[in-house]
Amino acid sequence: MDTKTQPQRNTTFKNEIFEGLSSFPKHLSSKYFYDKKGDKLFQDIMAMPEYYLTGCEFEIISKNTVAIGELFRDKEKGLDLIELGAGDGKKTKVLLKYMTENNFNFTYKPIDISENAVEMLSKNLAHEMPTLNVEAEIGEYFEVLERLKGFNKRKKVIMVLGSNIGNLKHPKAIEFLTKLQDAMLPEDMLFMGFDQKKDPQTILNAYNDETGITEAFNRNILTRINREFRADFEVEKFRHWEAYNPETGTAKSFLVATEAMKVSIEKLQLTVSFDQWESIHTEISQKYDDKIVSWLAEESGLRIETSFTDEKEFYKNYAFTKA
Ligand code: AVI
Repeated sequence: MDTKTQPQRNTTFKNEIFEGLSSFPKHLSSKYFYDKKGDKLFQDIMAMPEYYLTGCEFEIISKNTVAIGELFRDKEKGLDLIELGAGDGKKTKVLLKYMTENNFNFTYKPIDISENAVEMLSKNLAHEMPTLNVEAEIGEYFEVLERLKGFNKRKKVIMVLGSNIGNLKHPKAIEFLTKLQDAMLPEDMLFMGFDQKKDPQTILNAYNDETGITEAFNRNILTRINREFRADFEVEKFRHWEAYNPETGTAKSFLVATEAMKVSIEKLQLTVSFDQWESIHTEISQKYDDKIVSWLAEESGLRIETSFTDEKEFYKNYAFTKA
């Protein structure tokens, strides 16, 4: 599934760092948060009380397991359940359990950018659900989409949980959804989680915890650059800063230089200068409402079949088919 080799992936990372840190304003892509330490920190984030997204989606899937599972069912040839950005699979396991216990004929194909996450999930599933048919793969979303078209012998259900789509700006999200739509046949389904607009303070707290886990997660991208590209970022001199704009529904994460400094990145033969209070934009976490999701669906050739929400209506999972 992963069409890029490890050296190719390193070259992309290298080029993107070079470009992002030579630009004004500076930026880095959040897809590089997820090395071994980043995966662990993200697990810690998902367990934080402030980070309501995981609990809400878990509640939705747990309370609607039968309805969601039966939306997925194909009585004739069975199905492939393809999960993009599978992570630790905690929420998915609820559905996998229902499907294995209720005579679904299916293969579970978890795909994640993190080699470490895919390996851990495969081991865990082999242990916890030994009868489950698992074909895990490593890859970036846009790389794997091309290969999805190849799965056309029986129904596909594509799942993207965790509001992972929120890490893409709207034009990129439309490009992503359009490619998913393009890989779908009329009987296929897309099941996706979208974090909803809500009290701005609740959103800000989710990305700005007092314990500093999100700060460590954000700073980890600099630690990773230090290790992989022989750089000398003094990580603790960068402050995590979160901003949420209720007008656009966009939460943005930054790393802000607390003093002027120069950073050398040996493997890139690059020296990066920071003014005091200069920022690096590292992540967007987009928040949605029904209007935005309908617009994204329309732009991408998808139709919303149904949706499920939690008690507080903080989060929604939508089921889409090809329009
Ligand atoms: C993976 N992604 C959807 C998370 C989010 O909410 O944007 C990553 C994250 N960043 C900070 N906290 C969690």
